[in-house]
Formats: sequence, C-alpha cells, structure tokens
Amino acid sequence: MIIIIDFGSQTTHLISRRLREISIDTMIVEPEEFFEKTQNNTINGVILSGGPGDVYKSDALTIDAKLFEMNIPVLGICYGEQVIAEILGGSVKPGTKKEYGPAELKIIKSSPLFNFCHPEQREGSIESMDSSASPQNDNATQPSSTVEIPKSISVWMNHGDEVEKVPNGFTAIGVTDTIPFAAIADEERKIYGIQFHPEVVHTQFGLQILKNFAVICGLEPKDQPITKEFIEKQILDIKDSVGGHNVIGALSGGVDSSIACLMVHRAIGDQFTAVYIDSGLMRTGETEELKKVFSDTYKMKVLIVDAQKEFIDNLKGITYPEQKRKIIGKTFIDVLEREAEKFNATFLVQGTIYPDVIESAGSKHAKNIKSHHNVGGLPKDMKVMLLEPLRNFYKDEVRTIGTLLKLPKSVTHRHPFPGPGLAIRIIGEVTEEKLSIVRRVDKIVRDEISAAGLDDTLWQVFAVFTGIKTTGVRGDNRAYGETIAIRAVESLDVMSSNFAKLNWDLLEKISVRIVTEVTEANRVVYDITNKPPGTVEWE
Ligand code: XMP
Repeated sequence: MIIIIDFGSQTTHLISRRLREISIDTMIVEPEEFFEKTQNNTINGVILSGGPGDVYKSDALTIDAKLFEMNIPVLGICYGEQVIAEILGGSVKPGTKKEYGPAELKIIKSSPLFNFCHPEQREGSIESMDSSASPQNDNATQPSSTVEIPKSISVWMNHGDEVEKVPNGFTAIGVTDTIPFAAIADEERKIYGIQFHPEVVHTQFGLQILKNFAVICGLEPKDQPITKEFIEKQILDIKDSVGGHNVIGALSGGVDSSIACLMVHRAIGDQFTAVYIDSGLMRTGETEELKKVFSDTYKMKVLIVDAQKEFIDNLKGITYPEQKRKIIGKTFIDVLEREAEKFNATFLVQGTIYPDVIESAGSKHAKNIKSHHNVGGLPKDMKVMLLEPLRNFYKDEVRTIGTLLKLPKSVTHRHPFPGPGLAIRIIGEVTEEKLSIVRRVDKIVRDEISAAGLDDTLWQVFAVFTGIKTTGVRGDNRAYGETIAIRAVESLDVMSSNFAKLNWDLLEKISVRIVTEVTEANRVVYDITNKPPGTVEWE
C-alpha cells in the first residue's frame, strides 16, 4: 500500500480517494505516528500531503528523516515537497508571490512521474516519454522510447511558501512562471516533490501523475469505479448494523440526504422514517416538492416538522457565520432528537459526505474552515447513534451511487444546497424580511439558469444577500437598497471550483429581473472568485 502522511491539507483524503479509484490501497497517518502505525504493513511508497504550516518555523509539522533511509519511493505534495527540501538539506522560503488557483507547469526534464502527461499523448501510446530512470521499464504502463518533453500542463496551486534550494541529488523537472522548483526529483532514490496538487481535478493529468507514482512504487494501478455490487454490499451493511431498531433520517431534499435516506429505505423499508424539518431557511417550493418525490414516488414514510419559529428565534441577533452554523446545527439536532424520542429511534441517518468531514477539521492537522452543520454542530451527548452511509464519499461518487440505485436525475444531479440553508447566504443577522428577499431573488436566478439550459454545466448557482446597501436611482428618485451577489460555480468534487464564466447577456437579464421584480434590491454583482482561495458559500 501507499501510506499518506497527513500534514493537515484540506485535500489529503482526496489523494486517498484518487488512489482508491485506481485500486491502490492507502492508509492515512499523522506524521508523528507514521512508524508506529505502519510497522506491520508492506509499504510500497509514501506520499507526504500538503498542509497549512510553514516548514521553516520551529513548531512546523515534520517527519523523522529515517523515512528517507527506508529505500521506498516518496512523493511530497505542496507542503510535502517543502518537508523533503527542508529535511534533506535544501531550503524553503516565503514565496514572493503566493499562488492560489491555476498555473501552467512547464515540464523541463523527462521523468517517470510525468509519463503520459503530454497533452497530445494518451496512455498506451508508444510515443511516450523517456523512463530510463525508472526500474519498471518492462511494465505495460511504462513508456518505451524517448520523445520530446511535453509542453506545459495546467496545474492547481495553493501555497504561500516555496522551495528555494533543492537538496543534493535533486533536479528541477518542472517550473512555472513564478517558481523554479514546481516539481523536483531525485530519480535515483525515487524521491519526488511537486508544489501543485495532482489530487485536485483541476490539475490536468493529475490522476495520471498519481498513477505514475504508483507504478514507480512497483504497484499496478487499474481503474476501479463504484459498482452496483459495491452499493448492494453497503445496503446489506446498513441492514446488519441496524438490526431490528427504528431509524429516523434527516431529509433535507438535497442530493446527499436524499441518497443517504433512500439507501437506508432500501435496506430496512418501513423501519425507517425520514424527518424533514422545515426550518424556514429553505428556498421557494422546496417543502411541497419534497413531499411529492419522497412520499408519493418512493413511498417513504416522511414526517414534516414545522420548526420555523424555533430557528428564527434562535438566530436572533447572531451575525458571525460559525455561530450561525453551530446554532442551526444544534437546533436541527434538538428537533430531531425530540422526534427520535417519539419514534423510539436508535439511529439517525445523516447525509454527511466526505468534504463535510474534512472541512470541519475531521483530520487532526487540518484547519477548521467551516463547521458544516451536520458535523461540527453535533452535541457530544447525543442520544441517537449516527448512521452516515456517505461519510467516505465525494459528491460525484454520491451521484454515481444514486444513478446506480436508478434514482432519477432530478434527485442525483440536483444542485447541492447547504444544511444551514439560506442563513449562510444572508450576511449578517437572519430576519424574515431578508429571507423573503433572498428567496425571491434566488428563484429568479435559478429559473433563468434553467431556462438557459445551464443546470447540468454548473455545480451550483445562487444569490447572496450581501447586507450592503447602496445608492441607486429609480424613476428620477434616489433609492437606497440592497446589493445582491450572484454566485455560479463549476466543480467536480467541490474541494476546488471555478466561478462560471456566464454569458453577459444572461447576467444582464438576471440583473434586470432582480432589480425590477425585487424592489428592495437596487444593485447586482457577480462573484468571480475561485475556490481556493474563496469557498463556494459566502459564509
Ligand atoms: P464551501 O462553501 O465550503 O461549500 O466551499 C462546499 C459545498 O458544501 C456546501 N456546504 C454545506 N453543506 N452543510 C452542508 O450540508 C453545510 O454547513 C455546508 N456549507 C457549505 C456548499 O453549498 C457547497 O456545495
């Protein structure tokens, strides 16, 4: 297996997930427990993850230099590359230019790490790169002849520091306009460092680079998609763990909770009741739609609880996003626990997916970005046990599971909607009035996007009540009204995303409709921030 040492990157688990996609076993360990936890494993290679620290600081996370005497291939990603440089005698400095987002990597030296990474070259092609430095020349997925070095590939960066000097034995194999050591290698010892993130889908040939590393480790990567059998096994597991107990599920109507609840419904039928809490933080028409789909079509037992007043009361005067999230999470749980008691339920199903876990600091060294309410807000003394069938999956995998369960596209490919609902799309205190504004605006935005046929190309599209009042002019009079932001993003797994380059005419149409139909609003702005450094939601 390949051991992933976690220095706290938001995407550490994504590395593991990518390797799982190509049938490579992994184990994620903290740096301080690497030797202890892995002593009984066959280690074929080690990946050092990224992380939020600065390697040159005295309290920086690091790894015992003995790792590099074990004679196994090592790949350092981002902070991991810097750890390699720092430990083996190179140096790292704060970058003069920080890079967050896309960059062009020029591959300046052939390396087995970059096999098949030529934009015009496909795997299996005989025209692949020189791999003379690799010992696995006879492997079927290895290249056979020396050809031109690839031009450049697009990679995803997320760093402030950079390698200043490489250790002895290392050479640069890739550069960007900003950094000279974007990729480094000691081919003899099979130690590699890359400043960019191959695990993120925005890195072109990212999966290929991880495949190449697996091959360098002497492993045989092969594609392993999620299958029907795999899901059937998950459903059987749910049935086994639940036994004869009653289960309730928190159903929000979003992709994750819908698929999680449907999996449990398939496993235990009427032993399961889905509880939909109407928090008053939902979008227009949501409650009615949910009733139609789940009760009528799937014959699921669905209980609708009207808790609007409780939520609004609890949110009174609260402006700080994290506090909002925690309060909403707690209110959800309070309501659910009350319902669970009525049902004598032992288990509570939640649609938690992996990014919710990692973004709530689910890994020891990861920094908390947001307490996603279905993770961070849970009380320690919960009376029900959690059942989270999707906890280890990313959104695109969840959609695949839904499709294999033969769920319609309207469920599997719905745009995600966050647990805390519109509350985190209202900057500042949540009030009925602001909710009404954002609801009306959001409907206009979504209707226009659907009419333009863009639902499938966007990950998410929504409106934000920014809380900024600006001056305008209406009918020759001065107006002083709200600023609405529109956010539309493209993404695959939401660990990274791009703002969508929507057509100007479409944006204009949306803007005109908003300021005409929602009179409280007099200005519309478009959010052009990628993730990172932005997040999808504003709060
Ligand atoms: P961010 O804003 O973290 O969002 O880039 C990533 C994805 O997660 C959704 N999101 C949430 N989902 N509970 C959820 O169930 C939450 O608290 C939450 N916050 C963000 C967001 O809509 C996007 O799809």
